[in-house]
Amino acid sequence: MEDNKYHFGMVGLGVMGRNFILNVADNGFSAAGLDLDNEKVNALNEEGADKNVKGTTDKKVFLSMLESPRRIMLLVPAGKAVDAVINDLLPHLDEGDLIIDGGNSFYTDTNRREELLNEKGIHFMGIGVSGGAKGARFGPSIMPGGKKEAYQLVKSVLEAVSAKVDGEPCVAYLGNSSAGNYVKMVHNGIEYAMMQLIAEAYDLLKQVGGLSNEELHQTFDKWNAGKLQSFLVEITAAIFNQEDPETGRHLVDAILDKAKQKGTGKWTSQNAMDLGMPVPTIDAAVTMREISALKSDRVVIDSIFDGVASNPEIDKDSFVEQVGNALYFAFIMAYAQGIAVLQTASEEYEYNLEPEVIATIWRGGCIIRAALLEHIRKAFNRKPNLSNLIIDSYFVGEIQASQKDTRKVIQVGVEAGIPLTALGASLAYFDALRSGRLPLNLVQAQRDFFGSHTYERIDMEGIFHTEWE
Ligand code: 6PG
Repeated sequence: MEDNKYHFGMVGLGVMGRNFILNVADNGFSAAGLDLDNEKVNALNEEGADKNVKGTTDKKVFLSMLESPRRIMLLVPAGKAVDAVINDLLPHLDEGDLIIDGGNSFYTDTNRREELLNEKGIHFMGIGVSGGAKGARFGPSIMPGGKKEAYQLVKSVLEAVSAKVDGEPCVAYLGNSSAGNYVKMVHNGIEYAMMQLIAEAYDLLKQVGGLSNEELHQTFDKWNAGKLQSFLVEITAAIFNQEDPETGRHLVDAILDKAKQKGTGKWTSQNAMDLGMPVPTIDAAVTMREISALKSDRVVIDSIFDGVASNPEIDKDSFVEQVGNALYFAFIMAYAQGIAVLQTASEEYEYNLEPEVIATIWRGGCIIRAALLEHIRKAFNRKPNLSNLIIDSYFVGEIQASQKDTRKVIQVGVEAGIPLTALGASLAYFDALRSGRLPLNLVQAQRDFFGSHTYERIDMEGIFHTEWE
């Protein structure tokens, strides 16, 4: 290491960038930060006053502060800002320097940037970082993709700053080019699915079960101590406990029922469809964010169709348990769908992904961390090319034990008129996959009827066409 030079550089000192380099400095590496906004630079210098970290608004000063080869991470909004920063830095970089994009960039952008920079002798990596502001500060899950030699330049820093589970860092080299961004995109697709599933469980418990916010808090808290243990269930329990400083009531009831999105869940659905891989639970979650945005239409339609649904009879305690089992069942389906997409994408885009490694680094730090991931890790350790998580011996048992309650809960929800798009899609995904024979013979017959698209038969080899009329 060169004397007085900084080991790691960060461009973009918003909350994520600032927290990430403070984390770098806490772990024994010196770090320099660049941002054009003086206030952000000052915030870093104040918060990092007792650490080996320094911010500047001057690009040339920043670049001269870094040891060679430079390791520069960008935490700026995905899209044009990433290209703008790269173009700005590029003329001043030296051969062998490394640029890391740590944002939620679309995978094809990462491929394009890697090619552009590699042509100029500069390394480039797209790295998914999950865990929000707190994760960035105290240990995120990190999903790196790119060339292995480039990863070697930052391996030690990333391992040091990442979350740890059983002493193992929640970061590992994942694969070529945009593998890291792709895995992060699917992580977010699963995140959307789990959030929507939890919201549907909430709807059932509140509307049918009649649970108060206190009871919801206790229920999610209890679930979080069992097989549903996960970051998202944990924060859901906390949300039901949060008082609104404005009114003194529960904050959750004052929040408008419109959920926004930055697009990564939608990208997962779109890309899965391009790959021919079904992700119905994720699709349902994206759809529900879209339906949530149609608030004014919903209010009008609600007034027209009021009173359609009936109020099913339930035993409160057993209903709560059934909903918990249904949620667990659907979580398994969401992970299964996401991982199946990753396996197909890995072949299609030559990422060489290993589901076991991905499950390992998702166990801590990230938004979808959950006790289930340890079992997912073990499943892919037993059989690295398992074609679907749901046929692993452990998961077969878990699914058998929870599918009856899932059916029951969905039945009750349908009767009560509660939209269970993600729960329903999860069960339908399972039912469709376990259907050795689907009614799609009829679809094929229809295709041949109106379009002479031909069909295959179950009893003879070959391609057939019938003159139906
Ligand atoms: C994470 C999160 C993070 C971000 C989501 C929010 O892993 O830390 O996924 O990346 O909070 O992208 O996504 P939406 O705004 O689309 O809900």
